[in-house]
Amino acid sequence: MRKTLTTLQTLRNKGEKIAVLTCYDASFATLMENSGVDVLLVGDSLGMVVQGRESTLPVTIEQMAYHTACVASGARQAFIMADMPFGTSQVSPRETFAYAAQLMAAGAQMVKLEGGAAMVETVHFLTSRGIAVCGHLGLTPQSVNQLGGYRVQGKSDADAQQLIADALALQQAGAGMMLMEAIPAALAAQVTAQLSIPTIGIGAGAGCSGQVLVVYDMLGIYPGKKARFVKDFMPGAGSIAQAVANYVAEVKAGTFPAAEHSFY
Ligand code: KIV
Repeated sequence: MRKTLTTLQTLRNKGEKIAVLTCYDASFATLMENSGVDVLLVGDSLGMVVQGRESTLPVTIEQMAYHTACVASGARQAFIMADMPFGTSQVSPRETFAYAAQLMAAGAQMVKLEGGAAMVETVHFLTSRGIAVCGHLGLTPQSVNQLGGYRVQGKSDADAQQLIADALALQQAGAGMMLMEAIPAALAAQVTAQLSIPTIGIGAGAGCSGQVLVVYDMLGIYPGKKARFVKDFMPGAGSIAQAVANYVAEVKAGTFPAAEHSFY
């Protein structure tokens, strides 16, 4: 049976961790759900890991819809979430709805969009018209030029307070899930405690309701040095399916991320 937002909320309420991986095609979608992944995120990270671009900024809505349809073709049970690419959620709520509708028509069950207070009106517009929305706070890669690089966010008291306020405002506007990227573990745990919706962390410590990694990263396919929040699950696994199953098991057990993968 297909997992829904209600399934994810139930997992969160029971205290069972939610295992999420990015996914861009049908073959990986089938493998991942057979290995127990709850949510397949069609991330705009595909601009970097699939297309070889320097950032997520060049990814188009047509490319996101194409990859969402590929993932939907391979998945029967997993929940499918798709990223709103750069330029499609920074416009009017009405225009954002039209872009989001393309991803829903391609097979997404939820769209994810980056940003805090500025996104509240849009989140309300979408969720009150039937489109489930996941917020994305902390390091928001589409703002890399404004942030001055891929840096840990929410370190000062003021930034932490702003992030908490943004999370609460997005939830109030109807967001059904909240992804937090590259923030101190204690801040992510605090947000998780204050929200009633599931939180998903990447570089946000073990205190979130679930975890996500870019699949290429957790399979050890990354250029240069491994990022602190990444764990390569391939060594000793013997197969990709086993590496993914090991990731799911560690997320569910709360042993990934460990302190060495978190920021303080
Ligand atoms: O696009 C992506 O892969 C993401 C990550 C933060 C998981 O949004």
